Amino acid sequence: MTAASQILDRVLVLEMVRVTEAAAIAAAKLIGRGDEKAADHAAVEAMRAALNGLYMDGTVVIGEGERDEAPMLYIGEKVGSAIGKGPKIDIALDPLEGTTITAKAGPNALAVLAVAEEGNLLNAPDVYMDKIAVGPGYSPNIVNLDRTVAENVNAVAKEKGVAPNELIVCVLDRPRHEKLIAELRALGCGVMLIPDGDVAGVIATSDPDTTVDIYMGSGGAPEGVLAAAALRCIGGQFKGRLLFRNDDERLRARKWGIEDLDKIYDLEELAKGDCIFAATGVTDGKILRDGRITTETVVMRASSGTVRRVKSTHGRGRHHD
Ligand code: FBP
Repeated sequence: MTAASQILDRVLVLEMVRVTEAAAIAAAKLIGRGDEKAADHAAVEAMRAALNGLYMDGTVVIGEGERDEAPMLYIGEKVGSAIGKGPKIDIALDPLEGTTITAKAGPNALAVLAVAEEGNLLNAPDVYMDKIAVGPGYSPNIVNLDRTVAENVNAVAKEKGVAPNELIVCVLDRPRHEKLIAELRALGCGVMLIPDGDVAGVIATSDPDTTVDIYMGSGGAPEGVLAAAALRCIGGQFKGRLLFRNDDERLRARKWGIEDLDKIYDLEELAKGDCIFAATGVTDGKILRDGRITTETVVMRASSGTVRRVKSTHGRGRHHD
């Protein structure tokens, strides 16, 4: 067992809860204040401080952007209290996934983190990614991005033993998805349109309470790596293909070592080996008032498949950290 896998084992699973909780608490104070930037900044600062308290030699591989555009938690930033001597851990993070949701006090914004041993998380550039995901229990490659919408829907319906019009498909509500939504509706599927937050949208396929069967459409590539890490732990299938709008974006990808720009990535190519994923809910549609803050976190680990749900109540001292 390497030092990094030991730390993943012993320490990080529960420590990660503190990290995403800290970001969520900080952002929660700005719910419904109409200021995306302030909410994001608060979450970033709090997450960075919490990460710097962990005994590890951490590197941010999915972060707030490239060094020249993000002052904190930029790609390549070293975090942890044991840089140069502790276990080498790669970190994918989004301190506030759903900045607009938070600003508008909508539901399902998350503070999200995934960690793995060095080299195991895809260094995804900040471009779009075409995504398709289903929950656990289907045959391998039941869905893929080189098939039509109807082929994917029909394959899932057939294995589930239902008609296509009984499936629920989650899609980001964007004009670019007009054709996809029309095709799904023509098949009779229920289309759950979400305003933002496709990490939660992908995870929804693995949570029977949500009734979502399939996630489809394009969103951020960094969010794709985070969602893949979650599905590695909780079960389910995911395929992602980077989408480039111009040569600058292609150049960015090449800079991060991506040679095949049309590649369809599978779960294990986005998040390899053992990994841990944690997410704390920032918004549930309510605006916080003074007093105690309650957070709900899910933390899960790929190698064991353990999914822990941690509900914490934080006293006033913690809010004013
Ligand atoms: P932010 O938290 O950065 O606002 O991202 C929210 C989000 O909805 C992601 O979940 C999703 O991957 C991406 O934005 C979609 O991008 P766009 O808003 O450009 O369609």
